[in-house]
Amino acid sequence: MLMQASPPARTVQLFDRLREHEFSRLDTQGHVYLDYTGSALYPASLVALHGSSLQASVLGNPHSVNPASAKSAKLIERARQRVLAFFDADPEEYQVIFTANTSAAIKLVAESFPFNTGSRLLLTADNHNSVNGIREYAARAGAKVRYVPMDNSLGLMNLDKILSRENPVTAASLFAYPAQSNFSGVKHSLDYIDWAQSLGYQVLLDAAAFVPGSPLQLSAVRADYVGVSFYKMFGYPTGIGALLARRQALAMLRRPWFAGGTVDFASTQHNIHQLAPREAAFEDGTANFIAAQSVINGLDFLQRIGMPQIRQRLGRLAGELIGAMTQLRHGNGAPLVRCYGDPQLDYGSSRAFNLLNSNGKITSYEAVEQAAEQSNISIRGGCFCNPGCAEAAFGFAAETTRHCMQTLDGHRFSPARFALCLGQSEVGALRVSLGIANNHRDIQRFIAFLTSFIEVSKQ
Ligand SMILES: Cc1ncc(COP(=O)(O)O)c(C=O)c1O
Repeated sequence: MLMQASPPARTVQLFDRLREHEFSRLDTQGHVYLDYTGSALYPASLVALHGSSLQASVLGNPHSVNPASAKSAKLIERARQRVLAFFDADPEEYQVIFTANTSAAIKLVAESFPFNTGSRLLLTADNHNSVNGIREYAARAGAKVRYVPMDNSLGLMNLDKILSRENPVTAASLFAYPAQSNFSGVKHSLDYIDWAQSLGYQVLLDAAAFVPGSPLQLSAVRADYVGVSFYKMFGYPTGIGALLARRQALAMLRRPWFAGGTVDFASTQHNIHQLAPREAAFEDGTANFIAAQSVINGLDFLQRIGMPQIRQRLGRLAGELIGAMTQLRHGNGAPLVRCYGDPQLDYGSSRAFNLLNSNGKITSYEAVEQAAEQSNISIRGGCFCNPGCAEAAFGFAAETTRHCMQTLDGHRFSPARFALCLGQSEVGALRVSLGIANNHRDIQRFIAFLTSFIEVSKQ
């Protein structure tokens, strides 16, 4: 259904055809989908292709030698090779471990990393909670945990200075950050990887929000560990992701347990076990063999369009969207939209924002979300599991948030209760994120929706 990667002049046609053939359900249902960082939409052809290949195959649990099992095992190996090729990772250098999603990929590293009392864990304040959680394992092992703060523009504050002042590490240490923020959409420099590695850190790159819209070449960007979720890249299926790990980094990890599929042998008589070699030691239980073919198909699909073309298309659409949003004004000239982050930074295809009334007060994000729902528009509200970005965007004072978290202790957290304690009207933002299904009409519809919040009177 897709053509070969097109030259830039034909890109628009290519994406128009994609919308028509792969995502026509959006137009049939009048739906504007702007939550691509939440999940990509699955192209119709991927579902059909997978359905027909499943109907023609006999696939069994891979851990055996029978023909159904062998076929699954082969498929999983093909999928591994496809993932390596897609990310331009040398099989001599990288291995692919299939996981349920990015969170599971990160947890594999977190629970197995040999943190000790001499270790350091350096995290950026801009991180998804699935990365923040690493600190629990590090702290339990007595490692020193530090955060690189963010500035008001939601860039990383002085990370280059922090890294240049840092003494080389003397024990197993980890630096973990996102290639692209799932809150602000900002793309953080991939140069930090080399820099941190030169100080002796291993680097975990959370690529979940980056790889759906940007090419990642591990031949050039040699992170030790990279986590991805495939549904964020091509929408189908959920429940499968990967940890791409450098062989030498993987060899340092110490698995805290074993499970079916991860051992060469285990004895109940002697309480001993031997882990299987390489990636097999990290894939607990039965791998998602049914999904393996769809990973191959999904990566082929993206490659046929071309990741550079996707990045360019999304950059153009995002520019149009953000440009139009930031021009919206109330009758008295006050801006309707507050976008978070510095426009000079490199944003991918997503932005966080709030709507303001004509007095400059934030309109509750829940109210905007509800109105969007009424208009059949999918956007996302809250802090997107990225508390560091929310703290920086809303300028929360650390002392006040400490007090409010202590006050809330024992009560169920709610944004409303937290906002009340902070004396702040809002603690959540809205996020629009674009993907390959989006077009100019979606942007026009979304802008028309936002204009319904304009207060026309000049007061
Ligand atoms: C930057 C980032 N990291 C990690 C995750 C977690 O991904 P998953 O829920 O697929 O494990 C997300 C999900 O939105 C994300 O955007």
